[in-house]
Amino acid sequence: MTAPLRSGEPIVVPVALGTRGYDIVIGRGLMASLGERVKALRPGAKTAIVTDENVAKHHLAAAEAVLKSAGIESARIVVPQGEGSKNYATFEIVCEAIIAARIERGDLVVALGGGVIGDLAGFASASVRRGLDFVQVPTSLLAQVDSSVGGKTGINSRHGKNLVGAFHQPVLVIADTALLDTLSKREFRAGYAEVAKYGLLGDAAFFTWLEANWQDIFSGGPAREHAIAVCCRAKAAIVARDERETGERALLNLGHTFGHALEAGAGFSDRLLHGEAVALGMALAFEFSARNGLTSKSEAARACAHLAAVGLPTHVRQVPGSVPGVDALMDLIAQDKKVKRGKLTFILVCGIGQAFIEDNVDPAEVRAFLSDKLAER
Ligand SMILES: NC(=O)c1ccc[n+]([C@@H]2O[C@H](COP(=O)([O-])OP(=O)(O)OC[C@H]3O[C@@H](n4cnc5c(N)ncnc54)[C@H](O)[C@@H]3O)[C@@H](O)[C@H]2O)c1
Ligand SMILES: [Zn+2]
Repeated sequence: MTAPLRSGEPIVVPVALGTRGYDIVIGRGLMASLGERVKALRPGAKTAIVTDENVAKHHLAAAEAVLKSAGIESARIVVPQGEGSKNYATFEIVCEAIIAARIERGDLVVALGGGVIGDLAGFASASVRRGLDFVQVPTSLLAQVDSSVGGKTGINSRHGKNLVGAFHQPVLVIADTALLDTLSKREFRAGYAEVAKYGLLGDAAFFTWLEANWQDIFSGGPAREHAIAVCCRAKAAIVARDERETGERALLNLGHTFGHALEAGAGFSDRLLHGEAVALGMALAFEFSARNGLTSKSEAARACAHLAAVGLPTHVRQVPGSVPGVDALMDLIAQDKKVKRGKLTFILVCGIGQAFIEDNVDPAEVRAFLSDKLAER
């Protein structure tokens, strides 16, 4: 598989959800067409742009300028950067600001930012006036390949992440791959874990292509658009078949059960970013699958080798600072995944590109595996 040459034409990936369907448009420099695209979608609509302070510094002026030149009014709603903004207080501020900007049915909210902004602005859109339309303009790699697609929106509760929210699909996703040029290398790399996830869970040919082309994705060559499009097509197909995660959509959680436990154990701090935790979680899912004879040791080693090659963690010992003990990790896993009849659900693998949902995992085996892993620290 090779990436097509950059044609100048954006790649369009439709999300087939009937009346809730929409396009994901992917390309370098697409921000310049935001105004025209919004005007074509909702002639005469006003907009409110929700963003964070960090993204605002780099990209808000450009977004406002292109909307203005298309004759579209825009209000700006800027919140502090980081996961902390996915809370009730900031949700209230965003809802009130949208109402104050007189955004009504027929107008549009624009979520300009990473996954935090997409989740927060999306949930505010789902709530104000019982549902406003919103456009996702994802600015992080994670948001372009994952969080901006599929309609999961929400904020965090003191009981855990993403516990308050709604399914609310955007009406358009515009992924301008040039916006990623201002993202820190570490954030980009963390987002790449989710890119690799699509190969590891269901597309071995894509994984092989990533092994050969990942550097071009990082440096902003044409492989970047191609990779984002492959991920969005995969996510769009899964979401179209299982919008509300009653089955297959759970495959997208590959690496996330181990990952969330480690992420929570690190206090959701910048000791371990979400994507770093997912990389580590995927490495553990492959190793656990190999230990149970589901896949070969060499397949697991190959998955880990690629994640390590891009600089992502694959060993628990790479988490800086202290890591919870096995009891605490098992508690976190049990909280994350409901225990059914004493068994846990995990996404396991029969090989690269062959993930499956296993809802009959013995907690004692997970405990023994994690004890061994922690002993390697
Ligand atoms: N809704 C979903 O389906 C879904 C899926 C996966 C993750 N998520 C959520 O997404 C969030 C993580 O997303 P994220 O990693 O994008 O985090 P984020 O939104 O916090 O962005 C990471 C950091 O990068 C900065 N940033 C973003 N774009 C930038 C740019 N172009 N230039 C410079 N800096 C930029 C942000 O200000 C922030 O500091 C989590 O809250 C997670 O729960 C949601
Ligand atoms: Zn994730």
